[in-house]
Amino acid sequence: MDLQHLFGYGGKTVVISGAFSGMGLAAARLLSQLGADVYAICRRNGRHNTLDFPVKKILYADFGSKEDLDLLAEALPDNIYAMFLCHGIALKNDGSNTLEVQRVNFLGHKYLLEKSLHKVCDRGSVNIISSTGGYDWQSHVSECMEVINAETYEDAIRWYETHPDTIASGYVFSKQCLCTYVKAKVHEPEYIDRKIRLNAINPGNTITGLTDDFNRGTSPTGNAEEGKAVIEALFLDSWNGHWATPEEMGYPLVAIGSQIFSYMSGQIIYLDYGMSSVWEFGELE
Ligand SMILES: NC(=O)c1ccc[n+]([C@@H]2O[C@H](COP(=O)([O-])OP(=O)(O)OC[C@H]3O[C@@H](n4cnc5c(N)ncnc54)[C@H](O)[C@@H]3O)[C@@H](O)[C@H]2O)c1
Repeated sequence: MDLQHLFGYGGKTVVISGAFSGMGLAAARLLSQLGADVYAICRRNGRHNTLDFPVKKILYADFGSKEDLDLLAEALPDNIYAMFLCHGIALKNDGSNTLEVQRVNFLGHKYLLEKSLHKVCDRGSVNIISSTGGYDWQSHVSECMEVINAETYEDAIRWYETHPDTIASGYVFSKQCLCTYVKAKVHEPEYIDRKIRLNAINPGNTITGLTDDFNRGTSPTGNAEEGKAVIEALFLDSWNGHWATPEEMGYPLVAIGSQIFSYMSGQIIYLDYGMSSVWEFGELE
């Protein structure tokens, strides 16, 4: 069996956000190499907007804008074999973009999926990049479910606005919502009745377009070098760890979305070289 057949992407329609840098770019490039018809979603007015490999179509959208998501849902092709939601942003060190982080990192996923899941084919897959930042999502399920169950986009925004303390964790709460979403939705009729698989990966620290934003956001003064030192001390030096490459996240994500993982759904896969296992085992002990 050749690799194309093993993955099963040849001639299949796939949609991928965050496809113009970092993990999403690594995944999109591999999907293209595996013969998929790639619909690449580019952030409107984003930092990166060119690709050096063939895609079927580029669609432009800002995941923080409801209007853009409405247009995007219309523009998405039918018969999507795999949808990859890879975009995301960091929290600024002054917390000034807390609401935007929720809109881009979670509400946009929820809203787009509600509007376009019917375009994903039976036995297709939805594959999300969450984060090790979403660790301990289990302790926040009730708040996350309130957002997940919000009936309309505006209801969710109202919920955020009336729960400033909960969303103060910014990136963390948005990623906890993504983890909770996977567990809450995997057996909902819209997924299970059509055998659509739903999984997420939780990456550890990876060198991408977001690295500098994370570094600046972590430093009290917004200094990238200072933030990097804090991140490395907390998350890498503590276990002799190292930064990952975008391919170390993008490639496994492509595998998870493929028929190789045809019997896996509802899983949150930590790609962090065991870091979260140490946290988890420490708690169990
Ligand atoms: N880099 C890390 O250490 C790390 C760790 C854990 C999780 N993650 C997550 O990995 C995912 C991929 O990020 P990355 O690290 O590859 O960074 P990246 O900046 O290289 O990629 C993020 C992509 O999201 C897109 N994007 C941002 N805001 C958008 C918006 N409003 N609308 C549409 N697209 C938008 C950007 O254009 C970019 O292509 C994100 O969800 C991020 O939260 C990153």
